[in-house]
Amino acid sequence: MSIIVAYHTRTGHSRKLAKAVAADIGADALDIRQWSPGLKADTLLLFGGIYGGKSDAPMLAFARALSPRDVRRAVLMTSCASGKDRQVGVRDALTGAGVAVEAEEFVCPGGFLVFRMGRPNARDIREAVDFARRHAVPRKA
Ligand SMILES: Cc1cc2nc3c(=O)[nH]c(=O)nc-3n(C[C@H](O)[C@H](O)[C@H](O)COP(=O)(O)O)c2cc1C
Repeated sequence: MSIIVAYHTRTGHSRKLAKAVAADIGADALDIRQWSPGLKADTLLLFGGIYGGKSDAPMLAFARALSPRDVRRAVLMTSCASGKDRQVGVRDALTGAGVAVEAEEFVCPGGFLVFRMGRPNARDIREAVDFARRHAVPRKA
């Protein structure tokens, strides 16, 4: 069961969460810009933020370009100031590309301007690690 941890970030929060999760499972955290065509994973743990209500264009382009031959299943892990927004565009892009996406999504607050300062904090990181441990391997039906 191979797992890849990848992220796209503007302000470092997704990288911080991805690095903690990657360290916990003994993997590296890859910036999506480091993705190379030969990479393959049973599970991709994919971290990103929300900007103006949406995922960033490079993240959407990355998701659209994946195929089920590269990634069998993706798990979305999100940080955003609201603490509630999801990576809807990324989910749609992956689904459209034929990549299965875990229904449950990890979402935690990520500071922006004066909102949610200091987040993700140590507790958010622990929760991300717990979520990744529970979802890195598909659950049996
Ligand atoms: C330009 C910009 C726009 C943002 N717009 C939103 C938004 O619409 N909704 C939201 O919940 N958070 C918004 N945020 C907050 C980010 O989603 C949050 O800081 C997240 O943790 C950023 O992740 P990153 O550090 O990995 O880039 C915005 C942040 C920036 C920099």
